[in-house]
Amino acid sequence: MKKIGIIGCGAIGSQLARVIQQEFKGKAQLFALCDLDKEKAKRLSDKLSPPVSVCSIPELIQKSDLIIEAASAQIAAEVTESCLEEEKDVMIMSSGGLIGREEILELAEQRKSHLYIPSGALAGLDAAKAAGLGKIFSAVLITRKPPQGLQGAPYILKNRIDLSNIKEETIIFEGDVEKAKDAFPRNINVAASFKLALNCQKISVKIITSPQFKTNSHQIILKGEFGELTARSENIPSPDNPKTSYLAILSAAATLKNILGYVRVGT
Ligand SMILES: NC(=O)c1ccc[n+]([C@@H]2O[C@H](COP(=O)([O-])OP(=O)(O)OC[C@H]3O[C@@H](n4cnc5c(N)ncnc54)[C@H](O)[C@@H]3O)[C@@H](O)[C@H]2O)c1
Repeated sequence: MKKIGIIGCGAIGSQLARVIQQEFKGKAQLFALCDLDKEKAKRLSDKLSPPVSVCSIPELIQKSDLIIEAASAQIAAEVTESCLEEEKDVMIMSSGGLIGREEILELAEQRKSHLYIPSGALAGLDAAKAAGLGKIFSAVLITRKPPQGLQGAPYILKNRIDLSNIKEETIIFEGDVEKAKDAFPRNINVAASFKLALNCQKISVKIITSPQFKTNSHQIILKGEFGELTARSENIPSPDNPKTSYLAILSAAATLKNILGYVRVGT
């Protein structure tokens, strides 16, 4: 029985807690919860059956066999490092936090512990992963979001872009993943996961907005030795956090199913 600990009790963490208790009975036990807001973790624990202990990050890592980070890009690298150093498996949702810290992927090999990065809100990572084993000629990620989804981003503030003035489809940003990380830190997970799946090859990121957009959409366009691939998801926001796509939660649950099950379909 795998003991699981969850760091971050927001939209993703709280849904996963329920999934673990309801769908993976007998295979996994939700053992510990942690959140910067301790009361939030306690409230989640009270809603679970049985309730789960609330503790600090180091304690949670000690107690668990598999740690799920669903908190913030700011702690993703540090949590990954601590888990792998302790030879614990870790699933990272805030994959943007691993950009610039790619050496951590080698630590997983050294410690013979698993680092899982779910596809999240992105479609086509299965084929991209396979294609990345061959030569890639070009890789493009196009994110389309309604203007309110980009509000407050450092790039928007720095360039004094008035999002309320945008009336038609407009390209807001073009650059590589590293530039996108600084410009749109809250929108970077998808680009980061794409880059990590492609063995860190160069990726062009384009962010487009329009008041006509009703969903958060991510499209990848890949050209390489394998041929060409285009995949696009049109994501409905999760009810608990409009910035998080519901597909990201389902993707984390599907990754857990892969980890805990004996049959794995897809790359
Ligand atoms: N990979 C993807 O495609 C994808 C998709 C959506 C969200 N995400 C990322 O997953 C993470 C969780 O998303 P969410 O929608 O559940 O967010 P959320 O805001 O609903 O919940 C995050 C929770 O983590 C807690 N938290 C923040 N910093 C913390 C810290 N240092 N230590 C402990 N707890 C902390 C917050 O208090 C909050 O309760 C975010 O970083 C988000 O960017 C990734």
